[in-house]
Amino acid sequence: MPMLTKQLSVSHEHLDASIQTAAQILKNGGLVAIPTETVYGLAANALDEEAVKKIFSAKGRPQDNPLIVHASSLKVIEKLVKEIPPAAKKCAEAFWPGPFTMVLPKSDIIPNTVCAGLDTVAVRIPKNNITQKLLAASQLVLAAPSANISGSPSPTTFEHVLNDLDGKIDAVLMGERCAVGVESTVVTFATNPPRLLRPGGITIEQLREFIPDLVIDKAIFSEPKKNVAVASPGMKYKHYSPKAKIIVVEADRESFETFVSEQRKVDPNIFALCFDESNNRLGQPLICCGQTNDSISYAARLFDALRELDLRGCKLCYAISPGKQGVGLAVYNRLLRAAAFEVISL
Ligand code: TXA
Ligand code: MG
Repeated sequence: MPMLTKQLSVSHEHLDASIQTAAQILKNGGLVAIPTETVYGLAANALDEEAVKKIFSAKGRPQDNPLIVHASSLKVIEKLVKEIPPAAKKCAEAFWPGPFTMVLPKSDIIPNTVCAGLDTVAVRIPKNNITQKLLAASQLVLAAPSANISGSPSPTTFEHVLNDLDGKIDAVLMGERCAVGVESTVVTFATNPPRLLRPGGITIEQLREFIPDLVIDKAIFSEPKKNVAVASPGMKYKHYSPKAKIIVVEADRESFETFVSEQRKVDPNIFALCFDESNNRLGQPLICCGQTNDSISYAARLFDALRELDLRGCKLCYAISPGKQGVGLAVYNRLLRAAAFEVISL
C-alpha cells in the first residue's frame, strides 16, 4: 500500500514546524529523507530495529549491506563504538562535521540489522544545518543510507528522492542541492593499518596527514570477484546504474573530443559526459560537468547527470574520467560502477 510522503518545506517560516514533524515521525519508527552535504539520506532511528528494517524494504537494499549511523557530536559517537583510536580521533577533529565516515568496533547498543551482523559500525557527523537541527530536536542517532532505490544513482536533490521513493517513505525534508554530490569517504579503523573503503569528499591526500600508513582497498578500482569476501559490502553491488550504457574514457580533453567525434560519425545520438570546454567542439547531445579537470564540480554534477541521461533517452554515453587525484578518485570510482567497469584508455 503506498503511503502519503509528506513534503516538508524548510523555508524560514516552515523550518521549525518541519523539524518537529520529522523528529516525531522518526521517534514513532518512521522514515524521513534528509539533506546532507554529500547526498540525501533515508533516515530511521538507528536504535529501533523495526524502523531500520523499513529502510531496507523501502530501498530494496540487500540485507547484508550495513548502514551508516549519523550523530550530532563525538560525545554521542563514543557511546556507539567500543573505542576511538588516536588516528581516528584526529580525523574526527579535522573532518567532522563533514563528508567522512569511520568504521569502528561497535558497542552493544547498535542493533545487528544496522551493521548487517558485522561487529563494526560506520559513523559520521554530517554538515548540513537542517539535519543538524533534526539530530538536536529528536535526540536520536540516525541510520541513513543514500535515499535512492538500491542500484540507482544516489540522490543529490529532494526531487531525486521523490522520483525514487514517493509513496514508500513518511516524509522528505526539502533541503538544498547537496554541495559535495558524492557519498562520504569511508575509512575502517577496525583493521591495522586503517583502510580506505570508499573514496569521497575527503581525499587520500587529506587522510594521509593523519593516517600515514593508510591502505587503499583494491575494491575501489576493480570489479569484485564472485564469492570473495569484501571489506565493505556496498562495493560488491551494482551501483549508480542508469539505463543508459556508460563507458568511461581515460584521456585528455582533446583526445576525448576526437574519439567521441569519430564515434558520432557512426551514431550521432551518442552522448558525452564531459568538461564545459568540450561543448564548443562536440555539441549536443552532451552533459557538461564543470571546467577541465575540476573534479569538485564533476562530483557535484555526476549523479544528477546520470539521472538526466535516462530522462533524455540516452542509449550510449562516453564519460571522460577526471583523473584519480583529489576528489577525482571518488568520481572515477562511481563512474566505474555506473559503467559496470567498462573503461577505454586512449
Ligand atoms: O555520504 C554518505 O555516506 C551518505 C549520507 C546519507 O550520509 N550515506 C551513504 O550510505 O552513502 P550508503 O548506505 O549508501 O553507503 C554506506 C557504505 C556502504 O558501501 C556500506 O557497505 C559501507 O558504507 N559500510 C557501512 N557500514 C559498514 C561497516 N560496518 N563495515 C564496512 N563498510 C560499511
Ligand atoms: Mg548508497
